[in-house]
Amino acid sequence: MPKRNISVANAVLNGNEKKYVNECLDTGWISSNGRFVEEFEKKFSDFCKTKYSVSCCNGTVSLHLSLLAQNVAPGDEIIMPTLTYIATANAVRYCGGRPVFVDSEGETWNINPALIEAKVTDKTKGIIVVHLYGHPVDMDPVLKIAEKYGLFVIEDAAEAHGALYKNKIVGSIGDCGSFSFYGNKIITTGEGGMVVTQNKHLADTIRTLKGQGVDPNRRYWHPVIGYNYRMTNIEAAIGLAQLEKIDWHLQRRREIARLYNKHLEDLQEFIQLPAEMKWAKHAFWMYSVLLKDRINVSRDEFMVRLQEAGIETRPVFYPMHILPPYNEPEGHYPVAERIAARGINLPTHGTLSEDEILYIADTIKKICIT
Ligand SMILES: Cc1ncc(COP(=O)(O)O)c(C=O)c1O
Repeated sequence: MPKRNISVANAVLNGNEKKYVNECLDTGWISSNGRFVEEFEKKFSDFCKTKYSVSCCNGTVSLHLSLLAQNVAPGDEIIMPTLTYIATANAVRYCGGRPVFVDSEGETWNINPALIEAKVTDKTKGIIVVHLYGHPVDMDPVLKIAEKYGLFVIEDAAEAHGALYKNKIVGSIGDCGSFSFYGNKIITTGEGGMVVTQNKHLADTIRTLKGQGVDPNRRYWHPVIGYNYRMTNIEAAIGLAQLEKIDWHLQRRREIARLYNKHLEDLQEFIQLPAEMKWAKHAFWMYSVLLKDRINVSRDEFMVRLQEAGIETRPVFYPMHILPPYNEPEGHYPVAERIAARGINLPTHGTLSEDEILYIADTIKKICIT
């Protein structure tokens, strides 16, 4: 049998991507002006059911812009999960703010809302929730705390396009939703990001800041210091084509999760399968499992064994509180630490076949029982 080579992520560009990019090349509209930028923003708002969408060059920048629009400044504290990708914390640091970390829930791996209130101080300005790996955060208790203390809520939905919390699309629930369209995301523009919001003032501020702070009614007049954080028309062309098929992308991921659940069901004494809470619709950016203590090999050895079988995987992110820029030697976040030490992202992308999922499940079984 030929050696397998199953990648953990894979962009699927099976719609109008080529046609739309060729239109950019043929017409010369290759920078951040052009019809696709506007159309992608408009259709993304329709998808998220928000009034406004502002595109930008990646999902780190969309967080930075969201925080700038909330006037986050040196000394401000922003509460967020310790278990996230580093961009969430870095965006706060770019504004001079201080990320304040919260431990995770064992089931969803998201920020534990019950632990947030204890972290609120006089300096707290807002909360960033992260819909990690595509499972929505339990938003109602977060919103309640935010309201009680007058805090803003930014949803980092970089990994969760189309996920639902109580039938509401994530990104549309807090003050702003921030998305990434990096090449491995649920839909992609190569590199790209978007902020969605119902708030005109926030949308206008973000649009000004991403375009060098220029006055929209007066050319070359810059009342504030802005940034060049724009998305190109070529990226938006790819994004629009991806968005036209987002139902297909989401449906494929749910089907892949269903097949993993089916083929891994009997291994639950060894591995914890991803939860989907009754109020949630998971977007399955990554189908992720946790190795239970009964497994004799370390998580890293487990991943090496999968790689030897031609299966690429990813470890769960390191929690922020152990990374050098944010190190908290006294930090106590046991749930996040356990997930980070024992969690694995399995291959999750639209072109994965049932035969490949069966092969992955069989390989996992062999590692578990030897
Ligand atoms: C949770 C989270 N936030 C932010 C980002 C940053 O997005 P980008 O890579 O587009 O800058 C990512 C990207 O992977 C992410 O996973």
